[in-house]
Amino acid sequence: MLTPLVEMDGDEMTRILWKMIKDELILPFVDLKTEYYDLGLVKRDQTRDQITIDAAEATKRLGVAVKCATITPNAARMTEYNLHEMWKSPNGTIRSRLDGTVFRTPITIPTIHPVVKNWEKPITIARHAYGDVYKSVEIRVPDEGTAKLVFEGKGGQREEVVVHEFKGAGVLQGMHNTDKSIRSFAHSCFKFAIDTKQDLWFSTKDTISKKYDAQFRLIFEEVFEEYKQKFEELGLTYFYTLIDDAVARVIRSKGGYIWACKNYDGDVMSDMVSTAFGSLAMMTSVLVSPDGKYEYEAAHGTVTRHYYKYLKGEETSTNPMATIFAWSGALRKRGEMDNLPDLVRYAEALEGACFDTLAEGICTKDLAGLMEGITPQPVNSAGFIGSIRERLERRLS
Ligand SMILES: NC(=O)c1ccc[n+]([C@@H]2O[C@H](COP(=O)([O-])OP(=O)(O)OC[C@H]3O[C@@H](n4cnc5c(N)ncnc54)[C@H](O)[C@@H]3O)[C@@H](O)[C@H]2O)c1
Repeated sequence: MLTPLVEMDGDEMTRILWKMIKDELILPFVDLKTEYYDLGLVKRDQTRDQITIDAAEATKRLGVAVKCATITPNAARMTEYNLHEMWKSPNGTIRSRLDGTVFRTPITIPTIHPVVKNWEKPITIARHAYGDVYKSVEIRVPDEGTAKLVFEGKGGQREEVVVHEFKGAGVLQGMHNTDKSIRSFAHSCFKFAIDTKQDLWFSTKDTISKKYDAQFRLIFEEVFEEYKQKFEELGLTYFYTLIDDAVARVIRSKGGYIWACKNYDGDVMSDMVSTAFGSLAMMTSVLVSPDGKYEYEAAHGTVTRHYYKYLKGEETSTNPMATIFAWSGALRKRGEMDNLPDLVRYAEALEGACFDTLAEGICTKDLAGLMEGITPQPVNSAGFIGSIRERLERRLS
């Protein structure tokens, strides 16, 4: 390796898996260089969350990061960890510092069939994670009256529209987005499509929302001009359609593309798509910034239930696939950026070894019930990682 990866360690069961993956699957094969940031909750509390900011800044500087799942504290965690403050979600902090978009892709294998029979390839969901209903203000309208939307510009301009003449009680909501954020979202989507050589679909409801949603469509069209030539060279398509049409087409499709969604659509559709593909434990996630910085991770959390079993000395069968793919994704990207074909080959071999293991039916318990056409042999986490190592050694020898 030439440039180090930004390595962000995490919490609970995924922290245990992190070390096992490094010790068994990476360090024996790769001259690993990382800049290490411990984003475990203890360290975040000790540093008053400065460590998360440092890790995000390091990602901007070095370009590629790999992150372990971390606890987002709630009231119960305040007591459990005796925290100074209820620190914000590290993912939220990193995402806002990188101004990035999250792409979630399922790891698919032939023995786990998606609920939607015709899906042959993964569908990646890109969710615009800023604004709309998530940053809205609301009023419970108590009775008759007039609701207005007012804009007062710094330069003195004023625009006012009546939202509704209420004849009785009701509800009212105001939301916004910014050209800057939509443009960043568009850049991240086009970059990721080129990177992964997949078509990009984008959907809104601009027939109804003629200014708000239409602005999303227009910005995407404008930004696409910068990427059009590259798309043509790679034989890729950018395809815009209405959200309802997109839903119908997605269900009938074979998969194998990126579906960019507005914030709420992405929230809802990513849960539907991931469930239909099989298992949260097989879902990878990558944060891509508009200027091409990457942070790879598993989409799942810290698997708390397994961690408490582990602490009691009980055996666990936690699925490490998405975390392994976060490492292989980050190492492959580093290899591509630094022109290190051996590192790219290693990343391919690691993923190949995972598929070889699952193809023989060796799996963690969560997958055993999902597999079809094969007799699953569920093993514990260490057994599963050990089996991957054997196959990785074979592939690399
Ligand atoms: N990206 C992140 O860092 C991230 C994402 C989600 C949740 N979290 C944190 O994780 C903690 C636990 O949250 P949660 O329970 O809602 O989510 P979780 O993803 O840890 O678990 C949800 C369910 O899926 C199962 N599951 C998830 N991953 C699995 C795996 N690899 N192998 C086997 N089973 C798996 C769990 O057993 C559980 O039933 C919370 O503190 C939360 O803040 C972090």
